Amino acid sequence: MKKKAISLFLAAAMAATMMAGCGGDNKEADAPAADAGAQADAGETTPDAEPAAGTEAADAGDAAADAAGDTDLANKKVGVCIYQFSDNFMTLFRTELENYLVSQGFSADNITIVDGANDQATQTGQIDNFITDKVDVLIINPVNSSSAETITDKVVEAGIPLVYINREPDEAEQKRWADNDWNVTYVGCDARQSGTFQGEMISDLGLDAVDFNGNGKVDYIMVEGDPENVDAQYRTEFSIKALTDAGLEVECLSDQVGNWQQDQAQQIVANALGQYGNDVEVVFCNNDAMALGALQAIQSAGRTVGTDIYLVGVDALSEALEDVLAGTMTGTVFNDHFSQSHSAADAAVNYIKGAGNEHYIGCDYVKVTAENAQEILDMVK
Ligand code: BGC
Repeated sequence: MKKKAISLFLAAAMAATMMAGCGGDNKEADAPAADAGAQADAGETTPDAEPAAGTEAADAGDAAADAAGDTDLANKKVGVCIYQFSDNFMTLFRTELENYLVSQGFSADNITIVDGANDQATQTGQIDNFITDKVDVLIINPVNSSSAETITDKVVEAGIPLVYINREPDEAEQKRWADNDWNVTYVGCDARQSGTFQGEMISDLGLDAVDFNGNGKVDYIMVEGDPENVDAQYRTEFSIKALTDAGLEVECLSDQVGNWQQDQAQQIVANALGQYGNDVEVVFCNNDAMALGALQAIQSAGRTVGTDIYLVGVDALSEALEDVLAGTMTGTVFNDHFSQSHSAADAAVNYIKGAGNEHYIGCDYVKVTAENAQEILDMVK
């Protein structure tokens, strides 16, 4: 797996100007929180790697203060907060994260992974519990990236190093980590790249292949993830930018929020196909779960991907890869959960050992078409 540390300088004009929506379309608020049954779920998988044998009893205290002392990972406690267990991609991520942490010498019994149930208040309570429990490091996939400042403050105050994953805090927040030299970092991929790859997979087909209605434009619908999430913002913007950069004219027929969810996307795409019919030439989905929902709607409407419509997603879920191989999805983008989870665990180890980290640790996405889908499928299965 490729892994590299890069500095992040986000363009100033991010956030609000990011949404390349059609305008006027109803954007739903966040999905309702799932039932608040978020309990600590310690060691739900038992990976096969052998934990390093314990030498001395660890003082379950502040990891930074430990730097010069006991760094035996088998004695270190890791708290992991996931925004929502039912998210397909985050399930791959957390499973790999736990396996890899154990392979690095942590004890499965000392790794606690909790479900934020898509509710920030629930997750904040879980973070408070981890602080009380004096974990040695926290790995957090925030429910709301905008809560990062509050989360960072309390975790730093408790002297616990912090690795954010998947939902990137904004530029101002990341700057605070650097300015204050805090043990806080973010591990993730640059979502602009995934959006660009989606757009390129369509522009590479050429206008003639895509312009079924002959109006000289690429007519598309966009299904977005959680609008607060920079992955959704960038994928929405950069997929279309890749088309216009390739000299194609575009027409946005519908742009709606599916909150990363298959069922919501299915409904959105069914409605859009009902409204715009054969004018819909391309369906862009910010992730594969939603692309799978879109595919259900496309098939129910009697449309055929590759023949009279195109469909792209992001993540490279195995089901989506099988669709790419079967031709029922045009393409997807591999969101490398191996690289991201390993980098997050490595960053946690660096903090525990007092080595420190860059404040942004990036990774690359991989464009996936029928040509390399089998290769990626072999890797993720
Ligand atoms: C993934 C989505 C996932 C989201 C969760 C994104 O990077 O592509 O599938 O739902 O992260 O925050």
